[in-house]
Amino acid sequence: MRKGILLAGGSGTRLYPLTYGVNKHFLQIYDKPMIYYPLSTLMLLGIKDVLIISTEKDLIFFKSLLGNGENFGIHIKYEIQNKPNGIAEAFLIGKKFLNGDPSVLILGDNIFHGNELINKFTSLSKFNQGATLLAYPVRDPERYGVVEFNKKKEILGIQEKPKKPKSNYAITGLYFYDGTASEKALSLKKSSRGELEITDLNNIYLKEHMLKVEIMGRGMAWLDAGTCDSLHDASSYIRTLQKRQGVIIGCPEEIAWRKGWIKNSQLIELSKPLQKNDYGKYLKRLTINSKD
Ligand code: G1P
Repeated sequence: MRKGILLAGGSGTRLYPLTYGVNKHFLQIYDKPMIYYPLSTLMLLGIKDVLIISTEKDLIFFKSLLGNGENFGIHIKYEIQNKPNGIAEAFLIGKKFLNGDPSVLILGDNIFHGNELINKFTSLSKFNQGATLLAYPVRDPERYGVVEFNKKKEILGIQEKPKKPKSNYAITGLYFYDGTASEKALSLKKSSRGELEITDLNNIYLKEHMLKVEIMGRGMAWLDAGTCDSLHDASSYIRTLQKRQGVIIGCPEEIAWRKGWIKNSQLIELSKPLQKNDYGKYLKRLTINSKD
């Protein structure tokens, strides 16, 4: 069974002073904490075993928000990453948790939305060999890992935050790996910025001809919420769609209920303390006309 790792560490320096006192992943994306979105993405992919990695001082807050995951019908474990040693360190920290199983890694500030999430990504999730990354066209590729393709759309390489990007395709923060990721991560060396780079891990897969990059269609939205502007944009995007459609995006209770991981009676209980707002009323509405 594929397992999920959600990386929610870091010091959020790009969001100072917002993040002086609070972990970035608790910041508001319209009506819910940021971490609900990547967690929902993992759940939509059918992942029930999730490891959340964050700093020691913040884990207590994640535990009080999400507990062991039973409210969402999943199992959540926690591990510590005290220093910003890089994304790829997740596979060293999570080695025991993964125990050689294939995984999906998601960065805690990455928000995905659109139909492809369920259709295409679920089929990616069934593919258990090598690594698959998602590329998305952006206007500012220099902020990201950037993939270079040849004319046949074969991958030539990936560069981390290049000054002169060789394409406008950014690598998103949702990565699918086979069971060898932790073993491969052991051979990584720190980069010039002192981090174990996820791009270096991906380039190991590329060298072994085991790397695929899927381009995400324009009907999908990929937002990262790592800067003040992108945080604001993400909130506006979610608010606009929710208000227009009357649905809630990134709602782990709903996903668990739709997948049959929690019962109707549990969803009713979960909605009770939230009745003063639209989120709780929405959960309650879902349960009307449904029986256990
Ligand atoms: C990280 C990765 C980068 C990737 C990005 C996606 O960058 O290093 O390759 O494109 O996430 O959000 P960060 O935003 O952590 O600097």
